[in-house]
Amino acid sequence: MDKILIMGAGIYQVPLIQTAKRLGLYTIVASIPGNYPGFDLADQVYYINTTDQEAILEAARKEQITGICTAGTDVAVATIGYVNQEMGLAGVSRRAGAATSDKTMMQDLFKAGGVASAKHIRAGSIEEVRRGAEEIGLPVVIKCVDSSGSRGISIVEREEELETAFAAALKHSRRDYCLVEQKLPGEEIGIDGIVQDGKLVFLAPHRKCVYRSGDTVITAGHDFPFTGSEQLLREIRRQTELAVAALGLDNCAVNLDAFVDGDRMYVIEIGGRSGATCIPELISMHYGFDYYEEILRLALGQPVRVRTPKAPVPCRARLIMCPAAGTITSVDLPQIRRMREDGIQIGLDYGAGTEVEAMHNGTDRIGQVIAAVDHEEQMERIMEKVHHCIRLDGKPLDELWRAAGQK
Ligand SMILES: Nc1ncnc2c1ncn2[C@@H]1O[C@H](COP(=O)(O)OP(=O)(O)O)[C@@H](O)[C@H]1O
Ligand SMILES: [Mg+2]
Repeated sequence: MDKILIMGAGIYQVPLIQTAKRLGLYTIVASIPGNYPGFDLADQVYYINTTDQEAILEAARKEQITGICTAGTDVAVATIGYVNQEMGLAGVSRRAGAATSDKTMMQDLFKAGGVASAKHIRAGSIEEVRRGAEEIGLPVVIKCVDSSGSRGISIVEREEELETAFAAALKHSRRDYCLVEQKLPGEEIGIDGIVQDGKLVFLAPHRKCVYRSGDTVITAGHDFPFTGSEQLLREIRRQTELAVAALGLDNCAVNLDAFVDGDRMYVIEIGGRSGATCIPELISMHYGFDYYEEILRLALGQPVRVRTPKAPVPCRARLIMCPAAGTITSVDLPQIRRMREDGIQIGLDYGAGTEVEAMHNGTDRIGQVIAAVDHEEQMERIMEKVHHCIRLDGKPLDELWRAAGQK
């Protein structure tokens, strides 16, 4: 029997764990302890930090695992690469895994590999940051090199903001330097794909939906299909292939952040795992195969079965978030059930009685909504209905969102 080790027990790993179980795999989950929903679903649990490479390897050896993977998170990918190398398993290599969690290494490899990416300079002091910003020209992006989820990343328009941005980058880093990057032009998009035996066998670009609250911009969902000129679509494929080759990513799902400007595309970063914020669910709905199954097949060294149907299903996903902190006082479950019966996938992370934070990053979600709709207005109507079912301190979320100036 195949034994799969899944890294993480959070909301974005739950469907991967469930799929592994459904496929009859012996499913082991490793994560730091905490109130994570994945623990109850696994056959076996290890309470280990997924960045602790030696401890994870020890558990993997003890269990004699046949594959290791994750979904939706970057933090464990270097460990996955390490275990794959030490145990001779399929999946992301040690070198590629390490490069995806170090933005300096990634940018250097992009440059060497001819990937269209932002001009960048490594800076270890505020003088170097200032010189870098001057050389590149404002605006620039000051970046923590080893974090994720936009932590320690600031877009700087004016010179006097450089010092604060540098401090923020170092605060989130284990390193004593940061990156100064050219701010890219155009629109930010996401790209997911699968690489097997050195080939990009699946490619899925998608549009990003962002929520704005004060100064924060949060990825709140994605839209399929992505439409663009043939030339742009060719360029997206070409740059994705270049980025995959530059890092040596193989036998894994990949997820890229990129900017498109006219028919050009620039890569911001690439990860050796699937995207978060419902991307596997959207791919599954849009293309008509189960993306989580393919992630597991890749990890087990089995051929993937991806395909692009003649008539892909347009679909959108949005996170449910709160514009203010408070307590969920009620959820209209009968209405949620009716919407689910109409084919809308609604996932709620918490029930009535839970205290929740105002959104300031993507982890402040309280649920997710996925629907087979083609137009933004349809999705907005669905979100309004879902928001109306959830009351925060007695007030329906749709009202709170309207008061906050967003849908
Ligand atoms: N060079 C850049 N130009 C413009 N925006 C950028 C640039 N780099 C990062 N960003 C913005 O910051 C976000 C986070 O940066 P990213 O490098 O993807 O870090 P993380 O690992 O935290 O996701 C990106 O999704 C994008 O919106
Ligand atoms: Mg990113």
